[in-house]
Formats: sequence, structure tokens, C-alpha cells
Amino acid sequence: MNDFHLLHTEALSRFYPGVRALDAVDFDLTAGEVHVLFGENGAGKSTLISLLAGANTPSAGQIHVRGVPMHFANVHDARREGISAVFQEFSLIPTLSVAQNLCLGEEPLHHGMLDKAVLLDRAQRSLDELGFDVDASALVATLSRAQQQMVEIAKGLRGQVSVLILDEPTASLTERETTNLFALIARLKSQGVGIVYISHRMQEINQIADRVTVLRDGKKVCTVNAADTTHDQLISLMSGRTIEKIYPHIASHPGELVLEMQQVSTQSGVQGASIAVRRGEVVGLAGLVGCGKSELLRAAYGLEAVSSGKVLFKGLNHSRASPAQSLKAGFFYLPPDRKSEGLVLGFSSASNITLPALSGPLRGLGGWLRKKDARGMAEKAGDQVELSSRNLGKTVGLLSGGNQQKALFAKGLTRDMDLYVFDEPTVGVDVGTRTALYEVIKQLCEGGAAVVLISSDLPEVLHLAHRAYVMCRGEVTGELQGPEITESGLLNLFFGAKESQI
Ligand SMILES: Nc1ncnc2c1ncn2[C@@H]1O[C@H](COP(=O)(O)OP(=O)(O)OP(=O)(O)O)[C@@H](O)[C@H]1O
Ligand SMILES: [Mg+2]
Repeated sequence: MNDFHLLHTEALSRFYPGVRALDAVDFDLTAGEVHVLFGENGAGKSTLISLLAGANTPSAGQIHVRGVPMHFANVHDARREGISAVFQEFSLIPTLSVAQNLCLGEEPLHHGMLDKAVLLDRAQRSLDELGFDVDASALVATLSRAQQQMVEIAKGLRGQVSVLILDEPTASLTERETTNLFALIARLKSQGVGIVYISHRMQEINQIADRVTVLRDGKKVCTVNAADTTHDQLISLMSGRTIEKIYPHIASHPGELVLEMQQVSTQSGVQGASIAVRRGEVVGLAGLVGCGKSELLRAAYGLEAVSSGKVLFKGLNHSRASPAQSLKAGFFYLPPDRKSEGLVLGFSSASNITLPALSGPLRGLGGWLRKKDARGMAEKAGDQVELSSRNLGKTVGLLSGGNQQKALFAKGLTRDMDLYVFDEPTVGVDVGTRTALYEVIKQLCEGGAAVVLISSDLPEVLHLAHRAYVMCRGEVTGELQGPEITESGLLNLFFGAKESQI
């Protein structure tokens, strides 16, 4: 077919027992373009790129690189052709440093010994060039998810790359890192690199896409020029429905204080932070990656130790509570990393969803487990987050990224809580589901619960929070209320407290 295509596929397919994950898809990529893959959770986007990058083998169909038919047995075969992918699931080795991960297999030697200085220097330079604020000597295990994402991207760009594939690279990045990434993408485009880009964020698609291919249920719906297509058109192509409004109006009736944190510090860098959360309000918590917004609430929940200061939950001292005690007391925390903390990957979705209920509503008289109720409970919670019932019985680790996120969210819905802390709740979920999750947050808040929304997604905080705190370098740099919560209002505080407020 076309020689000018960097790559193209013919009827490319991947089947699993009972699932046509990718069904006869024709796709092509030209040099210097950003080609976005768009579709609902489970539509087949990650499957398509795993085949292009050699991480998975097709059940049928053909991949061509520069017009030549190719069979990739593994990612190294694809890398040899200049195809490099940054997957949704990370590949870094947590026990090694960033520098060691970046130079894996290409370690600089000096008299036959590892030259640590050169290793560190080379890695740090590659990160700096990309504008990523990551210390190359740090152990990967100590990095936040966003920082790991940046290292993954740096790793993807090692060597000669003619096709770069990015699967939701900005899912856990804030504006600043995203801007750096987009500048990098523009540079690569001008060098003739073709980019396959997966995202659920409409704003990004607007900013960088040249063409968009829409997938639904494993099949290609169409490929369109981004410039000729509106958001609404894309959404209806993706889901077959129109979405009137992504963000609901949430009524605010602030009631009694549920959580008070006074001058809290932690080992992980929170420094004397104070916040208060009441029933009947959504409190946003924003700030750059690494500012401590996640750590602060993790300390409240008991996942990190409070080294000084005080935490009060419903008026009682909660400074030394464990996560189990928090849950029991009516405090739910949704972690940002579904893989490492949130889900038991080998269990079914239904079992994951009902886990928090095991110590509560599912215990009958005498401590017996009420198994029959569990199924109904999982179905109800699954329904609220639009997780289809056919996914309930499936092993959660085999679901698509966004469907795993739905299962994680549903875990919070099986018992009544006084406080819900959602840490990056919509990472990787499609636009339709996003509205469903926001609707759940609305119901929880209007039902009288207190809600904290920790988010790197600025529009989410802008539209949903009644009050917002911003953190920078472990400190709370400001608090905004109602109409004060604007993009510039928040961003001004991202880099420290305003002079006038001190
Ligand atoms: N190893 C596997 N075994 C069984 N089913 C799988 C496997 N990998 C993927 N699937 C299924 O294939 C379908 C497509 O999944 P895929 O991960 O490609 O979706 P996606 O479009 O990337 O979704 P998301 O936006 O949620 O990341 C899903 O139904 C998923 O459950
Ligand atoms: Mg995916």
C-alpha cells in the first residue's frame, strides 16, 4: 500500500476467549503526525498499540512498517524498527535508581567497571533536556506515579525512534509537566517522528491531534481530521450517545466538621499543613506533582505517619489511626495507583468491590459472611460507576485500565461513609464514565457526606469543588472559596503563597 506510511495495519485483530479485543482494524500513521486513538474503556486502544509495539501478537491481520510486512515476536523486534511505546502499565524496576533504569542494557563502563558518574550524568541530562523535574539518582520505588511516568517517557525515547506510542501519558501529570511533554511532542513531529497518542482528555486532543481514529468494541468506527471534528461529534462516535454536560451542579450545604488537620507534618515532606472539611461540601486539593497533596490525606487515613500536628476525625483524635480503623470509623480513601494499592489483581472485580464491606455490612449475626448479599452489592455499586455486569465476574487484572479504575471507585460505594477522599478518581476513565463518577460524587455530597477531591485535573477541581486548597512544597499555600476558584487563582498558588497573603 502506501509507502509514505511509517506504518499501517490491515485487518489487525486480537482475540481472547470470549472477547474480540481488536477486530479487523485498518490503521495508518504518517511521518510528523500525531494520530490519536479515542474510544471508551475497553474499546481496544491499548490492545492495538501493544500489537504495534511487539508486546503482543496478532490473532489475525498484518502490520507493515514503511510498506514492508513485519512480524514482531517481542518489543525488541519493534524497537529495531524504531517503534517505541510507553504503556499504560509501567515497566520500571523499582529497586533500581532512575539512572540505572534509563541506561539498562547500555551501562557505561570504565576499565570494565560500571562508571556510575557517567551513568548518572547521562541520565540526568536526558531528563533535563525533556524538562522533567526528576532526580536521576533517586530509587524508582520512591518516586510518585507522575515522576515514574516521566521516567517511562525518557526511557521510551532512548536511541533512534521513528514511531513513538504514548498510552495516556498525562493521566497523572499536572499542567506544567503536560506542557513540557507537548513541547517535546512538537519537537519530535518536526523531526518527522510519527506519534500514536491515547487520551481521554478532550482538551488535549484539541491541542495536539492531527487525526483521530475512533474505536468501539474492538472495531474501527472511523478516522477523522481533528481540525474538522468537534468534541460532541467525537463523543457520539465513541459511545453512540451525546453527553450534555460533563460536570453536574453540586449543591453545597456545609455542616459539621468531619476532618480537621492542624499543622500536620510527615516524613514524606508535608510541612505544617492545616485543612478542614465539613459535611455537605466538596473540598478540592490541587498542586503540582510532589507538592504533598496526596501525602497529606494519606497521613489522615493512616497510610503515612503523622510526625507532628494533629488530626481530628468527627471531633476525635485520629492522629495515630490505621487504615483499618479509619475505614471502620467511616473514612474512605481511594488511592491513585490502582495497581499497587487499590486492587487485588488476581481477584474478580466483584470480590474487589465488596472487600471494604467484609468487615461491615456483609457480616451477619455471629460474624458469618453474607455471601448472597455480596453479588447484589457488587452489581449495585458496579451499576453506579457504569462497570458492565459482564466485567464483574472477570479477573480485575485482565480488564482494561479504565474498567479497573471503575472497579476501584466502586469499592467506596458498598457502605455509608462520613468522609470520602478521592485521590485522582478519574485517571484513565472515558468521558461518559467520568460524568457517571461525578454524579456519584454529587449524590454523596448532597446526601451529607464530606468529600475531598485530590486532583491533577484542573477542570475537575474548578467545576466540582466548593472550596479548594492549593499546596506547594508540602505547605498549604492558599484556600479559595466558590467564585474565587478560577484557573488563574489556583495556578497562582501552585508556585507558592502570594505575597499579599503572607
Ligand atoms: N489478557 C487479556 N485477557 C482477556 N481479555 C483481555 C486481555 N487484555 C485485554 N482484554 C480485553 O480486551 C478488551 C480491550 O481492552 P483494552 O485494554 O485494549 O481497552 P482500552 O481501549 O485500552 O481501554 P481503557 O481506555 O480502559 O484503557 C477489554 O474488554 C479487555 O478486558
Ligand atoms: Mg487502555
